[in-house]
Amino acid sequence: MVSKIEFSSGFLWGSATSAYQIEGSPLADGAGPSIWQRFCHTPDRVRDGDTGDVACDHYHRYLEDVALMRHLGMKAYRFSISWSRVLPQGRGPVNPMGLDFYDRLVDALLENSIEPLVTLFHWDLPAALDDRGGWLNPDIAHWFADYATIVFRKLDDRVKIWATLNEPWVVADGGYLHGALAPGHRNRFEAPIATHQLLRSHGAAVQAYRVEGKHRIGIVVNLEPKYPASEQTEDRDATARADAYMNRQYLDPIFLGRYPDELAEIFGDAWPAWPAEDLNLIRQPIDFLGVNYYTRNVTRFDPGAWPLYASPVRQKRATYTETNWEVFAQGLTDILVWVRDRYGNPPLYVTENGAAFFDPPTAEGRRIADPLRVDYMRKHIGATYRAIEAGVDLRGYFVWSLLDNFEWSLGYSKRFGIVHVDFETQQRTPKDSALFYAKIIDTRGNVLTE
Ligand code: BGC
Repeated sequence: MVSKIEFSSGFLWGSATSAYQIEGSPLADGAGPSIWQRFCHTPDRVRDGDTGDVACDHYHRYLEDVALMRHLGMKAYRFSISWSRVLPQGRGPVNPMGLDFYDRLVDALLENSIEPLVTLFHWDLPAALDDRGGWLNPDIAHWFADYATIVFRKLDDRVKIWATLNEPWVVADGGYLHGALAPGHRNRFEAPIATHQLLRSHGAAVQAYRVEGKHRIGIVVNLEPKYPASEQTEDRDATARADAYMNRQYLDPIFLGRYPDELAEIFGDAWPAWPAEDLNLIRQPIDFLGVNYYTRNVTRFDPGAWPLYASPVRQKRATYTETNWEVFAQGLTDILVWVRDRYGNPPLYVTENGAAFFDPPTAEGRRIADPLRVDYMRKHIGATYRAIEAGVDLRGYFVWSLLDNFEWSLGYSKRFGIVHVDFETQQRTPKDSALFYAKIIDTRGNVLTE
């Protein structure tokens, strides 16, 4: 029996999505293409040739989706802005109709008492900027800060929580090192540069916010605790490399003003010596950190796993999700406590947490039972509460995701939503997990104690 769970009345309960994954109509009303638009329309990049051309058609159905959130009792909504809707070329002339979409969305949220948390960049870089080198071009810090400034000026009178980037690690690792995600490069020399320019861009946008904005700004990272598979030195060293690469690569520069030593070991001659002034730019004080948590890794030395020489060990008797991630809720408590200890207890939000499971199709309008997702949420929201009990300054929780949506290179084959989407008819049906989440919100987590 766990102790009684009661989250504070101001705790922000929400759900998260991102522009390219749900909006559809990526070229509507004067928008320019993004790298994901390009990637999806390149053969063999995305499973089954899926694209975000229609996705959840949220661009046209956003009022229905906001009503759904309200119906479920949500207090907050984390969404992202498509840079190339606002600036079709990534810089230069603004597309007023693109900006207007987000203006209307924010108004609709506030009319329904739902607090917006806006992410400025969730992977859909304008294609025109990729043509100029994208995240490899040092000018991108100015491009990003200029874009951010336009959005701040339009929305900061109503948006009080901003995030610069979503998961820069995934952009560098998937986009520039392993190539599974847009822009699909595989290059050991490019990945550190992309990392560094992402971080400089984050710093430049925070600086711009201090001039333009009146509220709070932070960044969203994905964290995955790494536990050594054994006490042997080679497993422990592999674990330290994996931890440095995924968890400390972004947070050490932001909070401590330096990169972890292991990165030079991992990248060898591809790891440059960065100028001190860059690290000063990166180390801007932020108002909160967003943590995305999905799983952990038990890590072993693996001579075949370039460039980290580290691999996850599959756990016996554990549940794995459809994306092959181990369900391990304790890891969420552990990583939040780790952030508290290493970086001085910053205000935190869990900005994404969720799971892809196969939810059996049912006849229209009928209940959709997703017991594995219900169980995942029960365990993970309980784990966030244990972190609060341990003194972590956690202010909110956002389930990933509100809707089944376009899961990047896996297309529509994986469903993360607490609301089922029929992609033929666009009908939304709350799954059992959505109803369970509504009850958690309504009872401030009390239902988890029972
Ligand atoms: C991303 C989401 C993605 C989710 C599940 C996170 O890495 O921010 O865009 O859909 O994980 O893979």
